[in-house]
Amino acid sequence: VEQSYIMIKPDGVQRGLVGEIISRFEKKGFLLKGLKLFQCPKDLAQEHYKDLKDKPFFPGLIEYITSGPVVCMAWEGVGVVASARKLIGATNPLQAEPGTIRGDLAVQTGRNVVHGSDSPDNGKREIALWFKEGELCEWESVLTPWLIE
Ligand code: GTP
Ligand code: MG
Repeated sequence: VEQSYIMIKPDGVQRGLVGEIISRFEKKGFLLKGLKLFQCPKDLAQEHYKDLKDKPFFPGLIEYITSGPVVCMAWEGVGVVASARKLIGATNPLQAEPGTIRGDLAVQTGRNVVHGSDSPDNGKREIALWFKEGELCEWESVLTPWLIE
């Protein structure tokens, strides 16, 4: 089944938005397979965002992501990667639709509170990068038959 790596960035943690953000994915009907509060080291942040390493904002981005704890999550479900991107909203929160996480809770690209994988392959890659063996939980929700026919 498809999985997405979702991460509440340090601003989301500092602003007390952890419960609110987790709640949106829970209510939608995805399955939480991994969850931890984590202080990200610089080398991991650089690896995670390596495709952006030549951008002018890259040093600031690494500073931001390592500035305090993040909440790392693995969410599972059919279509979860694309759906999570929709729930999160556009990269620039001022352009994100109301009703999305960034549209409702943030104002600036450099403080956009949450990350979501942009493809199923990157979902796999990022979950392997941020979680160690044994940190994910293999379980099924009793609600699954009420969500999926
Ligand atoms: P993620 O889910 O975090 O990957 O965001 P995204 O997929 O919507 O955007 P992208 O992968 O292009 O950029 C990753 C992150 O880099 C963004 O979420 C921002 O935090 C940051 N970022 C991207 N563009 C800019 C920019 O122009 N300025 C600044 N300050 N940060 C940027
Ligand atoms: Mg991205």
